[in-house]
Order: sequence, then structure tokens, then C-alpha cells
Amino acid sequence: MYYDARKNDHGLQYDPMKAIVAPRPIGWISTLNEHGGVNLAPYSFFNLVSYRPHYVMFSSHGRKDSLRNAEREGEFVCSVATLQLFDEVNKTGASVAAHVDEMQMAKLKSKPSQFVKPPRVAKSPAALECRYHQTVELPASDAQADPYLMVIGEVVGVFIDDKVLKDGRYSADMVKALGRLGYFDYTVAGALANTDSPS
Ligand SMILES: Cc1cc2nc3c(=O)[nH]c(=O)nc-3n(C[C@H](O)[C@H](O)[C@H](O)COP(=O)(O)O)c2cc1C
Repeated sequence: MYYDARKNDHGLQYDPMKAIVAPRPIGWISTLNEHGGVNLAPYSFFNLVSYRPHYVMFSSHGRKDSLRNAEREGEFVCSVATLQLFDEVNKTGASVAAHVDEMQMAKLKSKPSQFVKPPRVAKSPAALECRYHQTVELPASDAQADPYLMVIGEVVGVFIDDKVLKDGRYSADMVKALGRLGYFDYTVAGALANTDSPS
């Protein structure tokens, strides 16, 4: 089959796009609201987009709390979402009022960050502490729809739980990071195909 992506006339029951670009890592974004309360939400439009300096991005469908907090406070933290924390990841994806602390809502404990104010998810084996850099608005396809806004941040601090370091390497096998597929499907990182020279 072949279809016009702008018309989106694939004729399938569901749009296959998110299933094609998969798996997508999940950035579990913590920020502080204007009262200093913690906000936490998963974003699967998330990725590392450059290397030295390390920039990451998450993309918000409309102006959600994470984006507003990151812009206002200038900081956010991306904890790694793992299979072990699958239920909590989904709970924190619920749409709730801006003042609700999703860490508490999902019965998650936090740990202070070292370089920024928002805390990380204590049980997550790695977290990227970020300084807000820029928001890029991606125009919506029609006037009624909310645009996506890509929030870019520079990673200024990295936490790794020593337990997931094996022979000096961050072990995908031990971390079991969740990846988002299409529809309501997820996968877990760990099936390795490797070349001889890591970068
Ligand atoms: C696994 C997962 C991935 C998600 N990815 C995104 C995303 O990339 N962009 C987005 O706008 N919403 C995404 N959502 C929905 C947000 O997490 C949800 O709207 C949340 O309430 C936003 O919270 P906030 O307003 O505190 O930022 C995702 C939800 C789940 C469960």
C-alpha cells in the first residue's frame, strides 16, 4: 500500500504512523509547578537529539503542564521509564489538574536532583537533569487542532544507579527500558544486535 501522509488516507482502522516509528523511548518528565509542587508525566515523543552538548526533546500536544513548567522554571528531569514501573508510568499519564503531584498519585518516591530543582523518580535507574533551551512549535494540520510543541533541553546532570552498570557499560538488559510502539503496545529494550565499536 501507499498513502498520502498529509491526507492520511491510509484506509486502515488506525493511523499506522506511530507503529512505523517505533519503538520510541519514554521520557518520564518531572517539573515543578509555580508553587514548587512536583509534576510528572510520560512523553513518548521523546529522544536524545544531539551529542556533546547533549540535548533532549519531548513534544507536547498542546500546552500541557510539563511544557509550561519547563518554560517557566527553566528546568526538567527525564527519568527512564522501565518495565518494572509500567503501571506507574501509565498512572502518571492521566490528565489531572496542574497542582496534583503525580508522584504521590502513583505512590512513587522521589529523589533530589543534583544540578536542577525538579526531583527524579527514585526507582528509575537513570535520569537526565536538563536546563530548558527552547520550544519549537510545529504547526497543526488544521486550525482547530492543537499544535505539537517540541521542548528542547540541555542535559546538565546524569544519574545512573550503579547497579545497572555492568563491566563499565549501562546495561539495557538490566534496565529494561519501556519503548512505545503503535496503538496501545509497548516493548522492552534489551534484545541486542551489536557492532564491535560502541560510540
Ligand atoms: C506512555 C505515554 C506516552 C505519552 N506520550 C505523550 C507525548 O509524547 N506527548 C503528549 O503530549 N502526551 C503524551 N502522553 C500523554 C501525557 O502523559 C498526558 O497528557 C499527561 O497528562 C500530561 O501531563 P502534564 O500536563 O502534567 O504534562 C503520553 C502518555 C503515556 C501513558
